[in-house]
Amino acid sequence: MSNDPYVLAREAAAALKAAAGLDTFDVALVMGSGWVPAADAIGQVVAEVPFTDLPGFAAPAVAGHGGRIRAVRTDAGRHALIFLGRSHLYEGRGVDAVVHGVRTAAAAGVRTVVLTNAAGGLRPETQQVGDPVLISDHINLTGANPITGTTFLDLTEVYSKRLRDLVREIDPSLAEGVYVAFRGPTYETPAEIRMLRTLGGDLIGMSTVLEAIAAREAGLDVLGVSLVTNPAAGLAGDPLDHEEVLQVGRATAARMGVLLAKAVDRL
Ligand code: HPA
Repeated sequence: MSNDPYVLAREAAAALKAAAGLDTFDVALVMGSGWVPAADAIGQVVAEVPFTDLPGFAAPAVAGHGGRIRAVRTDAGRHALIFLGRSHLYEGRGVDAVVHGVRTAAAAGVRTVVLTNAAGGLRPETQQVGDPVLISDHINLTGANPITGTTFLDLTEVYSKRLRDLVREIDPSLAEGVYVAFRGPTYETPAEIRMLRTLGGDLIGMSTVLEAIAAREAGLDVLGVSLVTNPAAGLAGDPLDHEEVLQVGRATAARMGVLLAKAVDRL
């Protein structure tokens, strides 16, 4: 088997198409922590494949991160690939593992990817726990990049304004924000959170930015949505807890599911 990540992505895409009996897919969604319960609302299941059955994928290490790829057909007849879980840089498998899902989706014919995540809110003055926020831009503080070499990719509009506007037609109350990514797996210190507020961040998490860059490299349109699961460290005084993140996801699954289902048929 090849070690070239782009070859592995083509092999994984071929296996997914064969499992679903489809020639191509329209859209892919990556369900972050807390988002997996929302996946059931998006469409009828056509096929479901464990990550471990596909070239280049490994089972995610974190509870609540799933570890399967589901092919669904929406009410409007569109075909979506739903990644129930993702790999993170902090799992130590490297950048190619983190972006393998997005590269596989691109190789499967997808033109649009929806990246969801759970995030700490850097602006509790205006953000409520349980609110989805459209990602308008990012600050990549992971120290990593999925592209090696001299591809000087333009990142002026990583997260498509057209797609954000479309989603706001579904829910005009949605706010936008700048997502900052640290490598993790530790949560941030209060001093780091004060720094990120000064730098212009609105949301803090440990995912999404590398996948968004890989998606742009592949020419995909990107929609990013964060679920605010907690005020960031030091802003509310409580210690942070992964179980709380999953709990907010379960509590908001119905709203997120409806939002994503409507979005997928319009993107
Ligand atoms: N920090 C980093 N990642 C997160 C947080 C946070 O506060 N909440 C959910 N994911």
